[in-house]
Amino acid sequence: MSRSLVAVAGVAAVLTLTTAFDAPLQFDVEAEYAGKCAMCHGEKGAGDGPAGAAFNPNPPDFSSTEYQESRTDEELTASIADGNGAMPAFKAQLSDDAIAAVVAYIRELGPTGGR
Ligand code: HEC
Repeated sequence: MSRSLVAVAGVAAVLTLTTAFDAPLQFDVEAEYAGKCAMCHGEKGAGDGPAGAAFNPNPPDFSSTEYQESRTDEELTASIADGNGAMPAFKAQLSDDAIAAVVAYIRELGPTGGR
C-alpha cells in the first residue's frame, strides 16, 4: 500500500471510531419521550396516553397554558427525577442533562412551543 493510501485508511478508521463513540451520546429527546413517557402522557402531552387513564389524578395536560404557567422548570425537573404521586421516578434511567432536555421538550409541547 502506498503511504498516502495508508494515511487515507487511517483517517477513515479514526472517523469511523469517532462516529461510533458519538452515537450513544446523542440524546434523541423525541424518541425518549415517545418510548418512556407517551404511553401515559400522550404523544402530544395532552395527558391522554393509553396507560395514563388508569391513574387518579391523570397525567396533566402539557399542551395547556394553565398547566405550563403553573410549574417552574425546577418543579418539572424534580417530578421527573424523583417522581410525584403516581408519576414514576426517572433519575435511574435519565441523566441530569437528559432530564433537562426532556423538560425543554415538555415546554415545546405547550401552546407557545417553548418560546
Ligand atoms: C406510568 C405512567 C407514567 C409514565 C410512564 C410517565 N408519567 Fe409522568 N405522570 C404520570 C402521572 C399519573 C402524573 C400525575 C401525577 C400526580 O399529579 O399525582 C404524572 C406527572 C408528570 C409531571 C407533572 C408533575 C408536576 O409537578 O406537575 C411531569 C412533568 C411528568 N409526569 C413527566 C414525565 C416524563 C418526562 C416522563 C417520561 C420520562 C413521564 N412523566 C412518564 C404518569 C406517568
